[in-house]
Amino acid sequence: MRAALHREWGAALEIAEVPRPEPAAGEVRIAVQATSVNPIDIYTGYNVGYEQSMQLPCIPGWDVAGVVDSVGYGVTRHAVGDRLFGLASFPQPAGTYAEYLTVPAHHLAAMPASLSFTEAACLPMAALTAWQMLDSVAANGTRDLAGHRVLVSGASGGVGHLAVQLAAARGATVVALARPGNHAALYELGAHSCADHTDPAAVAAIGTVDAVVDLVGREFGRSLFGLVAAGGSISLANAWSIPDYEAAAATYGIRAVSYLVEPDPEALRAIAALADTGRLRVVVGAEFDLSRAVEAQQWVQNRAGFGKAAIVTGVP
Ligand SMILES: NC(=O)c1ccc[n+]([C@@H]2O[C@H](COP(=O)([O-])OP(=O)(O)OC[C@H]3O[C@@H](n4cnc5c(N)ncnc54)[C@H](OP(=O)(O)O)[C@@H]3O)[C@@H](O)[C@H]2O)c1
Repeated sequence: MRAALHREWGAALEIAEVPRPEPAAGEVRIAVQATSVNPIDIYTGYNVGYEQSMQLPCIPGWDVAGVVDSVGYGVTRHAVGDRLFGLASFPQPAGTYAEYLTVPAHHLAAMPASLSFTEAACLPMAALTAWQMLDSVAANGTRDLAGHRVLVSGASGGVGHLAVQLAAARGATVVALARPGNHAALYELGAHSCADHTDPAAVAAIGTVDAVVDLVGREFGRSLFGLVAAGGSISLANAWSIPDYEAAAATYGIRAVSYLVEPDPEALRAIAALADTGRLRVVVGAEFDLSRAVEAQQWVQNRAGFGKAAIVTGVP
């Protein structure tokens, strides 16, 4: 099968022929129709992701949408021919930039019927991240966010544009932080107000929020602590970028949540239902053939557009 892989850490992705994997007990093999690029795929190429047990040659990627073409011993929840999507094995190695993939059956769910493989492949990591981060907004874990004012940073990105919609669907009043050129798209997706993150005066004028879903971090993320009402929360997708994150937040009297996404088929089913009823729209900003995986990653790295970059395999 064809795969995009790194032969050395830091080396460019190359297209190579590798053996097709066989599903172990509890796994299915997917004929991958599409995957999508997440920033962690790019860090992985330098062996600086969360998962340090990646091996060379390394096939990156965790998002998948495709068709089951073989099932391992004991798998009853999926059958050959099923159209599935999911976050494969994260944070353990998966290797979705390939024509075939083996994955634990319980990491996958039925694809949203109304979406293409390309659209479905853009959902798992980004939508699960948004979904699970929003679960930490209310101190008691309720998903009813009516009465909560929630600020989403990095709102034009893969996670951010979904977080805006999911927060609004849960009843929150949503403030989106993005460049002005992206504000119209964010209003269309359900943001109640938008502010330009490159303008400190505009950020300060947001006023108080109950929670921040921070998809940017670093010094910028630290500058958002002061916007959160006492007793509120900030959850951060890349908490490693703010040293002493929890302690720093505590000095503002706010709760800090350092977050790592996990496979969750129940949440995937809820996300699929929202997509199928038109309440969650995934924006595919760019689509690349597997042979152009390098360009797909560059699109994300250069923040070249709105939403997600997809990679399609063309496998029969
Ligand atoms: N912990 C986890 O489990 C987990 C899971 C998924 C993602 N993540 C992390 O979450 C972050 C977002 O992921 P993503 O897939 O949404 O990435 P993405 O598609 O590349 O989007 C990143 C967004 O952040 C904005 N941005 C980048 N640098 C910024 C800065 N200095 N100040 C303000 N905004 C900035 C960009 O907007 P502009 O280009 O308009 O500035 C863009 O909208 C990444 O760091 C990723 O690694 C973590």
